[in-house]
Amino acid sequence: MRTRAAVLRHPGKPFAVEDVELGEPGPGEALVRIAGAGMCHTDVIFRELPELPAPMVFGHEGSGVVEAVGPGVTRVAPGDHVVMSYDSCGWCGQCMAGAAPYCDEFMARNLSGVRADGSTGATDADGGPVAARWFGQSSFAAHAVATERNLVTVDPSLPLELLGPLGCGLQTGAGSVLIALNVRAGSSLAVFGVGPVGLAAVMAAKVAGAAEIVAVDLHAGRRELAMELGATRAVDGADPALAAVVGQVDHSFDTTGVPDVVRTAISVLRPRGTCGLVGVGGDITVPPMALAGRSLRYIFEGDAVPQQFIPHLIGLWRQGRFPFDRLIRTYPLDEINDAERDSANGTTIKPILLPS
Ligand SMILES: NC(=O)c1ccc[n+]([C@@H]2O[C@H](COP(=O)([O-])OP(=O)(O)OC[C@H]3O[C@@H](n4cnc5c(N)ncnc54)[C@H](O)[C@@H]3O)[C@@H](O)[C@H]2O)c1
Ligand SMILES: [Zn+2]
Ligand SMILES: [Zn+2]
Repeated sequence: MRTRAAVLRHPGKPFAVEDVELGEPGPGEALVRIAGAGMCHTDVIFRELPELPAPMVFGHEGSGVVEAVGPGVTRVAPGDHVVMSYDSCGWCGQCMAGAAPYCDEFMARNLSGVRADGSTGATDADGGPVAARWFGQSSFAAHAVATERNLVTVDPSLPLELLGPLGCGLQTGAGSVLIALNVRAGSSLAVFGVGPVGLAAVMAAKVAGAAEIVAVDLHAGRRELAMELGATRAVDGADPALAAVVGQVDHSFDTTGVPDVVRTAISVLRPRGTCGLVGVGGDITVPPMALAGRSLRYIFEGDAVPQQFIPHLIGLWRQGRFPFDRLIRTYPLDEINDAERDSANGTTIKPILLPS
């Protein structure tokens, strides 16, 4: 079918919204009319990389309405309202163990931009290939084809166009705290970088009943919002005595990916604490004894299974305990480059692109 999508033709260049021809949904796939698509920092990082498979459509926090399904699809039907998350195979040992973020095929299905067989899923007006399988969805578009396993059905009474970020950034921050780090009532957590992922972590730590939630960021506005959303203390990331000012905590969580900040996040841990990393950044080195009795791990998607965790987050939102809508600013899809600029300079926390 003919639709419109924000196509990236050259790494690092602006997106251009153009007509594309989207292939029919194949076995296990569904066609979704996009209501909104969040921009995650992962889109922004990967769009700079030189090895794009072809002109590519990014976007991996889509939400919308199922319009058609391919052969063998049984869990969603036309008319269903869905949130789109990451893709996984469903059959490997990790998927079977409920650890779908660590699916044997996670990289191929989510970060390659194309299907496992190398097909791109879309073509441009001249018939050239357009990679439209980023995170199994490529949702910076008016329509996307996603796999059934990407999709989480939601109540049609919800504000559908705002729900996409639950599929990645918000799930990652909240799941890291509630599932991966298993933050308990009365414990302490320091969150380094309070963009959308870090703010979701702050809200989740409050849900968990953490006694101390320290929010660290370079942006004063983001620190203020973190205080409104549950942080008990905010610290300027540029403070030369950062580690001492943060103090010792039970858990730490880094979303910046900045090596110096990650080392600080490790150094503030109490023994037997865990430092969770999600940021995409440079290599880190620490002396082995910095990890004495401590754990360090990189977390994908908050360890969350979307079909289980996204309904949980929606339930918390309904109770006023996970007010993620306060992070959002919407833009028409045609203004995608402005949305990216506003996210980069810190004025918008979570942009959502509306195709119509
Ligand atoms: N592992 C996963 O599954 C997963 C999922 C989603 C996002 N991510 C990654 O998580 C990271 C965060 O995503 P986001 O969308 O929240 O990004 P973001 O860029 O909006 O947020 C990062 C925050 O860190 C702050 N920051 C940067 N440098 C800092 C410093 N030196 N000290 C203190 N604060 C600093 C920024 O001001 C910003 O508020 C990105 O790297 C993204 O690629 C990973
Ligand atoms: Zn798998
Ligand atoms: Zn993401």
